[in-house]
Amino acid sequence: MVEFALPKNSKVGTGKTVKAKTGAKRVKAFKIYRYDPDKGQNPSLDTFEVDLDQCGPMVLDALIKIKNEVDPSLTFRRSCREGVCGSCAMNIDGGNTLACTKAIEDVKGEVKIYPLPHMPVVKDLVPDLTHFYAQYASIKPWMQTQTPAPTRERLQSKDDREKLDGLYECILCACCSTSCPSYWWNGDRYLGPAILLQAYRWLVDTRDEGTGERLDNLEDPFRLYRCHTIMNCANTCPKGLNPAKAIAGIKQMMVERRG
Ligand code: SF4
Ligand code: SF4
Ligand code: FES
Repeated sequence: MVEFALPKNSKVGTGKTVKAKTGAKRVKAFKIYRYDPDKGQNPSLDTFEVDLDQCGPMVLDALIKIKNEVDPSLTFRRSCREGVCGSCAMNIDGGNTLACTKAIEDVKGEVKIYPLPHMPVVKDLVPDLTHFYAQYASIKPWMQTQTPAPTRERLQSKDDREKLDGLYECILCACCSTSCPSYWWNGDRYLGPAILLQAYRWLVDTRDEGTGERLDNLEDPFRLYRCHTIMNCANTCPKGLNPAKAIAGIKQMMVERRG
């Protein structure tokens, strides 16, 4: 008989529960994924009750409060606390978003928090983004030029500058790529929505002179063409961007250059 086994660490157990202090009136439960690969145990879901009268309004405020006052071993990334650095991206209430801009009051019932899906976990809510950053480096995210540099900066018209709107705002949080089914299954070779949006940002920059080489680099059945326009990326982006539209723009450039 064939036996099927779940992959290692895919089973999440029930962890500890830490109750709110007696007298707390507005109590909210946070269920948080905990996993330490070094311990060799399966992940668990810990429950922390937080008194919202003693906590800031965002999910990140609750995480910081839990870490500071209850469990210093709780591990997550954060820096700017205002939706700019992208480091606090995680899966909250079933969607990928930024903990610092997600209001606790927008979550009905318990707040379930997991790391970004389908990524190796370094610890608790920290995904390993090594491969994601290597893919970013592969698109050469800097200006390519052959013509000699002008004495001052390379100028753009107002219209040309506007072509970067909806692209330059990307904070590389990886919420989109880790919500993309094509990236889940082919992330080793498919660049995914975040990196392709960044690639497009350089393709449409009128100051950049590496367009042909950039398109050559993307002309590949996996790197670009695994996008099937499922649109999870645009639905989840916490900055309101539309990576699927950028990907369509790259495909259009491919068609145009073939003539
Ligand atoms: S497109 Fe949006 S979701 Fe994707 S990395 Fe950029 S900011 Fe994050
Ligand atoms: S539109 Fe493309 S990149 Fe976006 S989620 Fe769907 S398959 Fe992924
Ligand atoms: S802490 Fe910087 S985006 Fe959330």
